Amino acid sequence: MPSTCVVTGGAGFIGCAISRGLADRFDEVIALDNLHPQVHPQRQRPAALDPRVELVVGDVTDAAAWDALLDRHTPQVIIHLAAETGTGQSLTEASRHGLVNVVGTTQMLDALVRHEQRPQRILLASSRAVYGEGAWTDPAGAVHYPGQRSRAMLGAAQWDFAGLTPAPHDARTVHPAPTSVYAATKLAQEHLVSAWCLAMGVRPVLYRLQNVYGPGQSPTNSYTGIVTLFARLAPVGRGHPGL
Ligand SMILES: NC(=O)c1ccc[n+]([C@@H]2O[C@H](COP(=O)([O-])OP(=O)(O)OC[C@H]3O[C@@H](n4cnc5c(N)ncnc54)[C@H](O)[C@@H]3O)[C@@H](O)[C@H]2O)c1
Repeated sequence: MPSTCVVTGGAGFIGCAISRGLADRFDEVIALDNLHPQVHPQRQRPAALDPRVELVVGDVTDAAAWDALLDRHTPQVIIHLAAETGTGQSLTEASRHGLVNVVGTTQMLDALVRHEQRPQRILLASSRAVYGEGAWTDPAGAVHYPGQRSRAMLGAAQWDFAGLTPAPHDARTVHPAPTSVYAATKLAQEHLVSAWCLAMGVRPVLYRLQNVYGPGQSPTNSYTGIVTLFARLAPVGRGHPGL
């Protein structure tokens, strides 16, 4: 049986960046990607996607797309990248983020059950966003989770929490505390993949990625790639898109 890796959202920035390494390592690499217009305005296969990768244009929320894929392939590894990724956008388009990020993940898991397939591992690209504001400490060193800045704080440009200092994030000790719909759906993805994998004897691998940047990042998607925006604005003396 060939070694097979399925990458959801595999035509995106991270999917393209890892495509060459995956194609070197696996006999078959299949990218399941709907070529989302916010990421792929031309709706075309990205040049950065390794030519050895088979691109299947389909939606992770579509059970039929999963059935067609799993009829033909039995992945040992699934890398789950497909997601709605607009942190601010998620507050006004919550259903879209919930559908793709949460239901898209459960559709993947249900399809594996329908096809009686158990990959060796499922890797999920979660996000540091799940931490929200994370942990802060008071002058005595006690840890606090101040939660979310209120509208009043934001209106007054008050970014800090009175009397507290932000603490470094350490995944072993800092609790997730999402402050956006996007972050809440990424945390839900973590719980879904962990619970299902542990029950099914599949190894879950969860990454909480920080801001990923590099060649091939979409310069047109204003909802992601803050480092790309800064890199474009800094040479012309503008440090922030809003300035
Ligand atoms: N780039 C970062 O800085 C960063 C940071 C933290 C977490 N992440 C996570 O990593 C993953 C990949 O991020 P990226 O930067 O490559 O994003 P990206 O937007 O470049 O790629 C996402 C890909 O998913 C596809 N997609 C979107 N909805 C889909 C759907 N319903 N069905 C199938 N495909 C769909 C898009 O067409 C796109 O090709 C995401 O899950 C994101 O939450 C990224």
